[in-house]
This record gives sequence, structure tokens and C-alpha cells, in this order.
Amino acid sequence: MRILTTVREMQLACRNLKRKGTLGMVPTMGALHEGHLSLVRRAQGECDAVVVSIFVNPTQFAAGEDYETYPRTFDDDCAKLEAAGVDLLFAPGPDEMYSPGSTTFVEVPGIGDRLDGASRPGHFCGVATVVAKLFNIVSPQRAYFGQKDAAQIAVLRAMIRDLDFPIELVACPIVREPDGLAMSSRNRYLSPQNRGRALILHQALQTVCQLLESGETRSNVLQRALLSVFAGQEDIRLDYAAIVDPYTLLPVADTARGALIAVAAWVGSTRLIDNILTENLPIENLNLQQGWMEETHA
Ligand code: PAF
Repeated sequence: MRILTTVREMQLACRNLKRKGTLGMVPTMGALHEGHLSLVRRAQGECDAVVVSIFVNPTQFAAGEDYETYPRTFDDDCAKLEAAGVDLLFAPGPDEMYSPGSTTFVEVPGIGDRLDGASRPGHFCGVATVVAKLFNIVSPQRAYFGQKDAAQIAVLRAMIRDLDFPIELVACPIVREPDGLAMSSRNRYLSPQNRGRALILHQALQTVCQLLESGETRSNVLQRALLSVFAGQEDIRLDYAAIVDPYTLLPVADTARGALIAVAAWVGSTRLIDNILTENLPIENLNLQQGWMEETHA
């Protein structure tokens, strides 16, 4: 695996890689886990060459968020990507990505202000900006993102459409720990006690799944069920429990035509997110069925 750190070298190397055929990209902030590796494997199955980027993007963190302390595990990440057979890793520093005096940003107003965008003002401007820059540097035909960041996917789909990027966004299923917790680089912040408490996000979504399976589609009923799971829980602060259109992130009154059911909560001082898409029911990676477990953790 080649590791490059400058934009110029990367542009040249990607141009050469594209001679092999379809180029797939997996943008990450490192601290790689099985969720990221599932994106890499999917990209490898669908593309002729795969590029991964590792860049902890300062512009998507607000003041007081965890930019400084975000887990940085570069050597371990490289070993995982090397073992996975990735062709090229882009690992620029902040000055390489944002030259002094750079003032151009990508805004996705509306969608970018909903769900996590409402709780973390400016977050999706930082995400859209860095992903647009990565797309310009790598020029992949396909880019792979995890469905756990459902609002991020909606924002990036809108950006790709609005700015005419000739790139297909591939949203990949959430990968879960054996007990159901959605994998996240931030899970490592959790104390053993909060690791247990964090299961509440998955439990709330499972409660909704049961209602959906029994035929309930009214969002107000489903939302009440979500809220009741979080009510009175010690050391958990619900940020949002939303039932929305997965493309616009606007609330829907009924889920019969497909909806994103998304939750975000602070568990101690760690903010976690999780979601399900009703269109995909039965949700093979939410219900911990044997087949899925074997496939994911083999
Ligand atoms: O999902 C992430 O890890 C980041 O938001 C991304 C897409 C790599 C942009 O920094």
C-alpha cells in the first residue's frame, strides 16, 4: 500500500490508478474499526482499485468538541488497511488540506441544518467542504460511506447532485458489536459502565422495529415509543429522536412510504448516534440474526 501525504502526489497517483478501471474511495478520519473495513471490502468488491483517506478534519468540529482528543491510531490503521489490500492511502496534515488563507467552504443549507446539523452548527459545512476537496483530489467513480451517519449521507447526496460530481455515493449497512451497539470510533471513549448504558440507542430502535413489524406506521406513536425508552435514564441525555425522510431529513407523519428513524444521545460525555431505515425491514443488521453475525464477525 502506498501512503501519500500531499495533494499533488495524490492527484497524480489517482490518475494512474484510474487506468486500472473503476476507482473507489473510502473517506475516513482514522481510528478504523470493522465498520470502516466493511466499506473497504465493499469498495474492493465493486471497484478495480481502492483509495482510503485518513484525515481528522478540523473544520467539522466546533469549538469545545473533541477535535484535539479524537482518537489518532495511525500505525494501527495502516496495518489494517495494508492487511485489507488497499491500494493507496491519503493521509494529509491539516496545512496540506487547508492552505493558509483558504476561505472557500461548501454549505448545504436546509438539509445541513437538520438532525446532527441542528445540534452541531457548522458541522456539515466542514464535512461537505472536506469531502468536496477529497473528491477533487481523488476523483473516484464511487465513494463509500456508512449508513450510521445517515444525516451525513443525506448532506453528501445533495452536495453531489447540486455540484455535479460524477460520483456514485454508496451507503453501506451499519456494522454492530455482538450486543447491538453500532460501531463508532467514539465508542472507545465510553467507560465500562457507559458502554453498557450506550445500548439504549439500539434498544430504542429495536422497540420501534417491533412496532413496525406489528404494522404500526404512525410517526407520533413510534416517536412516543422511542422517547419512553430514554425517559428517566441515568447519565443519558437524548439529543434527538427523529422520524424523517432519509433524503431531506424533514419529519414524516407516517412511515409507510419509508423513513429514517434516527437517534442521538449523550452517554456521559460521549455523543452517540444510531438509526434504522424502515424501507429495509426486516433490517438484517439490526436484528442480531445468526447469518449476519457470522458474516460480520468472521
Ligand atoms: O464520516 C467521517 O468519518 C467524516 O465525517 C468524513 C466523511 C471522513 C469527513 O471528514
